[in-house]
Amino acid sequence: MKYRILHYGEEPLKKVSEPVKAIDNDLKVLIKDMFETMYAANGVGLAAPQIGKNIRVVVIDCGDDPIAMINPSIIKMTGKETAPEGCLSFPGLSENVQRATKVVAEYTDPEDGEVYEIEAEGLLARAIQHETDHLDGVVFVDRMSKARKLQIKNELEIIKQGGSLAEEEEEESPIEAK
Ligand code: NI
Repeated sequence: MKYRILHYGEEPLKKVSEPVKAIDNDLKVLIKDMFETMYAANGVGLAAPQIGKNIRVVVIDCGDDPIAMINPSIIKMTGKETAPEGCLSFPGLSENVQRATKVVAEYTDPEDGEVYEIEAEGLLARAIQHETDHLDGVVFVDRMSKARKLQIKNELEIIKQGGSLAEEEEEESPIEAK
């Protein structure tokens, strides 16, 4: 089942999410639905609060391996780099954000319930930082300077009202369809 992805400004995106206590069938179905929702929106990551569920679950697929993380926490960050980033709760917005270059994160795997450690860099490291932020009620515009946030005030307002900055991309062009 595909969920509606919440937009910037909606309450669940501002809350600190609760840790998952038990892995049951409902949770596995939810994770499957989160992947479905993320792929349908052409995203590389999705956190449960983005579909209105304030629990600590994220799914990520940067093109190598889909990964579902329960109760993820970043235990080590090294380096700094600034790169453009987007978020499914901010359709069409891409902004530079500074993140750690490499991270080590700990998470529970929904398949076997075991705790694993993952070392990541590049896009995957960025996705892990972005998605775990969502679990703490932090969105990527919160990582920007106040000045930049003010510059894109109108764009943010469009998104808050439920709009998208990329609506024209969703329409099919008869020329390109050939
Ligand atoms: Ni996001």
